Amino acid sequence: MIAIKTDKEITMKCLLFVLAAIVAVHAIDEDPNARILASKNILNEYLVEGKDLTVEYYLYNVGASAALNVQLADYSFPEGDFEVVRGFLNAQWERLAPGSNVSHAVIVRPLKSGYFNFTSAEISYLSAEDAEEPTLAYTSAPGEGGIISLKDYDRKFSPHIVDWATFALMCLPSLGIPLLLWYSSKSKYDAPKAKKN
Ligand SMILES: *[C@@H]1O[C@H](CO)[C@@H](O)[C@H](O)[C@H]1NC(C)=O
Ligand SMILES: *[C@@H]1O[C@H](CO)[C@@H](O)[C@H](O)[C@H]1NC(C)=O
Repeated sequence: MIAIKTDKEITMKCLLFVLAAIVAVHAIDEDPNARILASKNILNEYLVEGKDLTVEYYLYNVGASAALNVQLADYSFPEGDFEVVRGFLNAQWERLAPGSNVSHAVIVRPLKSGYFNFTSAEISYLSAEDAEEPTLAYTSAPGEGGIISLKDYDRKFSPHIVDWATFALMCLPSLGIPLLLWYSSKSKYDAPKAKKN
């Protein structure tokens, strides 16, 4: 037993040592400047022609210092294919502290159905106070998505509501009759008991 415990301790110590080494290497590796990772996501489950579509951008400064003059611009929604309903396809922040996040959302409406390749938005920022050139980067890309035509959407989703309502109505007697029977038999048996007391 004692031997096993010591073995475990040694293993733990080794593990801690390796972890410390990894952390140290990372610390040396770490860029002293700001570094922004950005994502772009479509929040809707279904993409439908003529219906609102919410796009959310997330910017995360994983670097060691603040990013300045942070700009986000999304040129990936062609004017003839999308209209902006709410918000803007660009945003800016004066400063993004190390380890902090900002988010931005815009609502657009697809004007056409069919496949659309949702690509990245562009970001730029100064990675240090004395940086002369802005750093350029891209958000993640949501990828290709099928935009359902309004007609297909109505055909696919609205009739189901009618179907389900009909189904529920049809179920009512088969649920309701046993319930009534049960209820009447229950009161039949309950009544004498109540009298005894
Ligand atoms: C920033 O975003 C990242 C990734 O979504 C998350 O892990 C982290 O907790 C967030 N930090 C803050 C301060 O909100
Ligand atoms: C979508 O666009 C990205 C970036 O332009 C490209 O790499 C990718 O191959 C495209 N996907 C499709 C399915 O066309």
